[in-house]
Amino acid sequence: MILFKQPEALKQFLSSQKAQNVSIGFVPTMGALHQGHLSLIAEAKLSCDLVVSSIFVNPTQFNNPKDLETYPRTIQSDIIKLMSSGCDVLFHPEETAMYAQGEEKLSSKDYGYFIDVLEGSSRPGHFDGVITILTKLFNMVDPNQVYFGQKDYQQCMVVETLIQRHFPAIIFNRCAIVREEDGLAMSSRNTRLSVEERKKAPEIYSALQLVQTEWTQDGWELAMEKAKGVLSKAPFELEYLEVCKTDTLEPLTSFQKSVVVLVAVNLGKTRLLDNLIIN
Ligand code: PAF
Repeated sequence: MILFKQPEALKQFLSSQKAQNVSIGFVPTMGALHQGHLSLIAEAKLSCDLVVSSIFVNPTQFNNPKDLETYPRTIQSDIIKLMSSGCDVLFHPEETAMYAQGEEKLSSKDYGYFIDVLEGSSRPGHFDGVITILTKLFNMVDPNQVYFGQKDYQQCMVVETLIQRHFPAIIFNRCAIVREEDGLAMSSRNTRLSVEERKKAPEIYSALQLVQTEWTQDGWELAMEKAKGVLSKAPFELEYLEVCKTDTLEPLTSFQKSVVVLVAVNLGKTRLLDNLIIN
């Protein structure tokens, strides 16, 4: 695996590869890699000649400075994991290589209804930071295909919109959530859970499954209330559990067969996301 820290060197190398018709699959990350990230690398390897990953803890997408400060940083073990998963290129820049001083973020304001709800309202400015860094990374890497995890369902919608508008040649891949054996969705933030919190955490997925099991014309509203009840009890602090239309994230006003249930919940000091598509 080749490691680049400078955008210019990365761009030069990758454009020489593209000139030889090498297809590039790109997996952007913020590090603290787990099996979920490695499944994206594996997916990229299936259809691209060269797999590029980036590790950059992007400050502009954190609306809480404490969260940015405590975000797990495990670069040495990340490098080992990427090497053993067959990643070809790692881009791991310093902040100064990615942002000029005082630089303004791009705006996702007109992306559609979905931009202001759920994560959009819980974390103001978060998606502006995401599109700002991804615009830079996509311009540097110039990938044929990109790979994102469904765990960040709303982020996937944001990235798809960014691609449709500004990078139409890129193929977007939304990849399945990878779960621990007990159902907990893999996340870099799981490492922050205490032993007791970790034991409780699988209840998040159980609550989503409960909604799925009871998803009927007559039962759907009660199912939602039950799931909210489970995740409103200590040690959980529920931020939202919403059932939405899959393509717009508008709330349901009446029963629909195909929906997505999205949840954000605090467990101690850790904020966890999960979702489940019901068809
Ligand atoms: O999902 C993430 O890890 C980040 O939001 C991303 C896409 C790497 C942008 O910083």
